[in-house]
Amino acid sequence: MAYNLIVKNNKLYSSYYGPKASHPEQDYPEFIERLEVPVRGGEANKTPQLEIEFKDGTRDLDLMYEGWSESKEGDYVTLRIDQKDTYFPLVISSFYRILPEYDIIEKWLEIKNLGTEVIKIDNALSGSLWLPPAEYELLQYSGLWGQEFQPKSSELTQGRKIFEVRDFKSYGSSLFSVGLKNNLTEDKAAVWYGQLHYSGNWKVELDKQADGSLQILSGINFWDTDWNLRSHEVFKTPKFSFGYTDNGLGEVSRNFSAYIRNVLLPNKDGKNKKVRPVIYNSWYATEFDVNEKQQLALAKVAKKIGVETFVIDDGWFKGRVDDKGGLGDWTVDKNKFPNGLNPMIKKINEMGMDFGIWVEPEMVNPNSDLYRSHPDWVMHFNNRNRTTGRNQLILNLAREDVYQYLYDSLHKLLTENNIKYLKWDMNKTLTEPGWPDADPLMRKEVRIRYVNNVYRLVDSLRKEFPDVWLENCSSGGGRVDLGMFSRMDVVWASDNIDPLDRIFIQYGYLSAFPANTMVSWTGKENWHDNNYPLDFRFNVAMSGVLGIGNDITKWGNGEVETASRKITEYKSIRNVTQNGTLYRIASPFTSARSSLQYVSDDKSETVVFCYQLADQLKGSSAFPVVSEQLKLQGLNAKATYTVKAGNDKKTYTGEELMQNGITWPVKGTFNSIILSFISN
Ligand code: DGJ
Repeated sequence: MAYNLIVKNNKLYSSYYGPKASHPEQDYPEFIERLEVPVRGGEANKTPQLEIEFKDGTRDLDLMYEGWSESKEGDYVTLRIDQKDTYFPLVISSFYRILPEYDIIEKWLEIKNLGTEVIKIDNALSGSLWLPPAEYELLQYSGLWGQEFQPKSSELTQGRKIFEVRDFKSYGSSLFSVGLKNNLTEDKAAVWYGQLHYSGNWKVELDKQADGSLQILSGINFWDTDWNLRSHEVFKTPKFSFGYTDNGLGEVSRNFSAYIRNVLLPNKDGKNKKVRPVIYNSWYATEFDVNEKQQLALAKVAKKIGVETFVIDDGWFKGRVDDKGGLGDWTVDKNKFPNGLNPMIKKINEMGMDFGIWVEPEMVNPNSDLYRSHPDWVMHFNNRNRTTGRNQLILNLAREDVYQYLYDSLHKLLTENNIKYLKWDMNKTLTEPGWPDADPLMRKEVRIRYVNNVYRLVDSLRKEFPDVWLENCSSGGGRVDLGMFSRMDVVWASDNIDPLDRIFIQYGYLSAFPANTMVSWTGKENWHDNNYPLDFRFNVAMSGVLGIGNDITKWGNGEVETASRKITEYKSIRNVTQNGTLYRIASPFTSARSSLQYVSDDKSETVVFCYQLADQLKGSSAFPVVSEQLKLQGLNAKATYTVKAGNDKKTYTGEELMQNGITWPVKGTFNSIILSFISN
């Protein structure tokens, strides 16, 4: 990728973004007017990245280039370019951190008030990009509860297309891929891509100009939000990561996954690539009705089948008999666990498993000790109803006292109990985002301050408890973004564990996010009344971070045996699956089959997941004819690979596997197979 900037007459312009080119300014000479940081001001004919209001009423920003500098941290260079207002004491610094091996640049702004008076920020997006004139198509990922990460494409015609959230949870993602019209394919296509590092109200704007060029902007959504920049304060926007590839959507998924895995994910024990444990989660088995005896019965079977971390989900804390009470009071329910959690944790540890627990720190039930003592700690407006969702309200984490309460409660929980895995949930949408007793200047800053304190809370706990795995959950995949990936290890991608739906959800998830973050459970959940074999459920869950969600105390010998066999198999392939490079070689969105192929870094191993969703006449109007040959990718052409499928041991060269492929290995409906190839 190449990204070029030009300074002319003291103005900073964006001159080129796309494939490497020898004379980018000749290829794309229309840079004039394409300010690198478009502002509200001057001719104001482009979508502004920055909108500022000064104390005297001036709402026009006029920036002048000041200079640049460069710094290096680890392997990566960061470029800084300063501009300042021609009259007011305001400095805008643009930062660019360059990560060549992922074809990604992170950019963000720092806005500094050098004067004594407050300067109001009406809008400060993280970045603006310019694409040359062409016919473009957009691929974005929308979603709903139980239906996360669904790819949707649309043609970009003249005018603005915006996708945004005004909430803290979104289901959809700020990820965008833009390609040439009718050419946004998995392989060999030009793709301009990006996504934001932010876990709240975000926005992506695509502004197709009359001349055919395209402006793309992303950042915090300043709808119902502003920031008052106090004297000498710096406002830093979240990062916006963007890139370009000639190699299609497949390469976008590989670039983002590798970047998240190697650069963003919290570094555990200095080993980014540490494999994630096989977990058991109690939610679908016991819901709110938990106690020591029953959880230990589940743990005993979990141990037998090979689980490594036993996680008790909702229901363990004071007053939590159902979803109507308890949230906010993060102490153990003495009716359910009269001696606390420690005796149970000790027994689980003695069985050889780690222990994990569920929390939903940002929420409170009106029926809780916390709410009874601090009704003013929730987001609210004085003369408005407080709208509940799942019988709960959102704590105003912008407040320092709320932050301190949550920090102390979680710190105590993690100190007093040997917890090695924390599932962090967040289930309510934002309503009445008011903070009546705040300084008036801070009232519309509430959303930004909330997100800052969520990050601060997670970061502080991580620092204190570095060996605790953190699972990001928001009614499933409701808050999945690069901001969360910088602080949490894994994601509960969806509450929908129906394996058929999961194949689609996971395919979408893997468009940008790495498999070692995608927690997937087996379970009894059956959204479509299909009779799925247990093997099929396992094979779907095994393409990410495997978890078990069934009531395993009800399992007979057959199921226990299948589970033990599958978990053993998973452990033998999980390093390649979790940490390998992914090739999505058959899409469920275009055929009745799906196939994911993971390749180890040294190309000596590959694992291929093959799912048959339906068997039917080929070439029916619903499903196009697809080749019976499945071509693998990313292998060493000269190496010899051996496949283990059932009792068959076949040998292929890498070239054969990539040129001719293998015959599609599954028939029937809801059948699947995992093939593992090893080169000698
Ligand atoms: C919503 C989550 O998505 C579920 O997995 C489960 O943890 C429930 N909350 C518990 O209330």
